[in-house]
Amino acid sequence: MDSLIEPSLPASHSQNLKPDAIAISNVNLTLGSGAARVHILKDISLRIGRAEAIGLIGPSGSGKSTLLMVMAGLERPDRGEVVVDGTHFNALDEDGLARFRGRHVGIVFQSFHLIPTMTALENVAVPLELAGAPNASARAASELDAVGLGARLHHYPTQLSGGEQQRVALARAFAPDPAILVADEPTGNLDEVTGQQIVDLLFAKHAERGMTLVLVTHDSALAQRCDRVVKLRSGRIDEAGR
Ligand SMILES: Nc1ncnc2c1ncn2[C@@H]1O[C@H](COP(=O)(O)OP(=O)(O)OP(=O)(O)O)[C@@H](O)[C@H]1O
Ligand SMILES: [Mg+2]
Repeated sequence: MDSLIEPSLPASHSQNLKPDAIAISNVNLTLGSGAARVHILKDISLRIGRAEAIGLIGPSGSGKSTLLMVMAGLERPDRGEVVVDGTHFNALDEDGLARFRGRHVGIVFQSFHLIPTMTALENVAVPLELAGAPNASARAASELDAVGLGARLHHYPTQLSGGEQQRVALARAFAPDPAILVADEPTGNLDEVTGQQIVDLLFAKHAERGMTLVLVTHDSALAQRCDRVVKLRSGRIDEAGR
């Protein structure tokens, strides 16, 4: 009868089982104080596989941007666990989180967060240099060229249109070649043709390099290109919305 008992896996086998790209368990997050105190994320559990593309949708105020910040380790939940690429965020201090983020996670913020005193090229190259990447300036120029900004390298953010700033933010997120990219409305400020080019670029990196994508979007065509759509409603995952 012993032969019917499943043997435990040898250690070498279990080490080969790659962890999820992102595993979030029972995350709750409350922000603000007094009358502005809001329970934003409510018991969120979500697993995203390696090289999966997720479209994160939901009404304004449903918690999409906040959930991206949690995935990137920029907001700490009050309760629950966040594990990215096998790393438990609860075990890292702020410096550890920042180092982890720099190596593994590219972020495109809804409001871009470009540094106003730096040119487009510097906005992309300086984080690369700080991470010790070789040829930072040449790599930054090439990423900017790929998003159609080869002729805007020396412009400052205030000299760029909203859509151009968004593309600098995308180039900055792509430049370190992260395993995971989280992007908040990456085409929100772009016209249809430019938006399509950026989406094609995102999915090309996803296909060629196996980059895991988490894309917040109100654009149903972009959501439909993802492997899976996850819908938030009032801070919870809306199971009916999948
Ligand atoms: N620092 C904060 N203090 C208090 N409330 C906050 C804070 N940040 C966000 N909120 C609230 O949390 C809720 C979720 O915000 P979030 O930015 O995650 O929404 P969203 O789904 O990204 O919306 P949108 O589609 O408009 O970008 C909103 O109701 C917002 O007002
Ligand atoms: Mg948002």
